[in-house]
Amino acid sequence: MSNSLTIALSKGRILDDTLPLLKLAGIEPVEDLDKSRKLIFSTSDPDVRLLIVRATDVPTYVEQGAADLGVAGKDVLMEYGSQGLYEPLDLKIANCRLMTAGPVNTPEPKGRLRVATKFVNVARRYYAEQGRQVELIKLYGSMELAPLVGLADKIIDVVDTGNTLKANGLEPQELIADISSRLIVNKASMKMKHARIKSLIDLLAEAVERRA
Ligand code: ADP
Ligand code: PRP
Ligand code: MG
Repeated sequence: MSNSLTIALSKGRILDDTLPLLKLAGIEPVEDLDKSRKLIFSTSDPDVRLLIVRATDVPTYVEQGAADLGVAGKDVLMEYGSQGLYEPLDLKIANCRLMTAGPVNTPEPKGRLRVATKFVNVARRYYAEQGRQVELIKLYGSMELAPLVGLADKIIDVVDTGNTLKANGLEPQELIADISSRLIVNKASMKMKHARIKSLIDLLAEAVERRA
């Protein structure tokens, strides 16, 4: 069985925050990922390659075994429903909170609440636990716009500084979950390449502690 590893990452904050951790684990891309349109990259370790995929697609690549490992936000993992994956390490990067938010000083409507979000599975579970009937409106981005134009009463999205909400006249309301990015591992890879993956997890855990 080959000992090569494929790691799925997404461009932006996950890539930016994961590369320094991988570097501490001895893995560095051989070219600048931000200057290339390629989607597969070799690294300083001839047995390790990186894939660039959309953030929400990372769990799919890893669960299906197209990648052995990946890095994904806990929000994405909660939405994906990741029973088919191992989640051995909190990388403590891309920290934020998954929250409900709505217009400042606005009482809730009397009838059924309309909630716009890209996290419809999380939202369904959250409101079901509270026994609340809601209408979910699936969006793919710019959620903050929905309440401003009457598409929804509230949104569910990740919040960091709160600046995006504030700039759009919204306020954070209920906390659904504290979020950070996690290392995820394909279940078969974990068995077949156990020693290799275990040593990478240990090196990354050390790198996370050193940065803390
Ligand atoms: P996307 O293109 O899907 O929005 P991002 O790179 O923005 O991908 O987000 C990747 C992950 O980073 C998210 O799943 C979430 O866990 C986290 N994240 C998103 N927005 C923020 C933010 N403003 N501050 C900190 N972490 C964030
Ligand atoms: C994320 C998220 C919020 C914003 C929250 O968007 O969807 O809009 O960050 O951060 P804040 O509380 O610090 O303002 P992102 O920057 O990832 O933009 P995009 O996903 O729409 O590209
Ligand atoms: Mg984003």
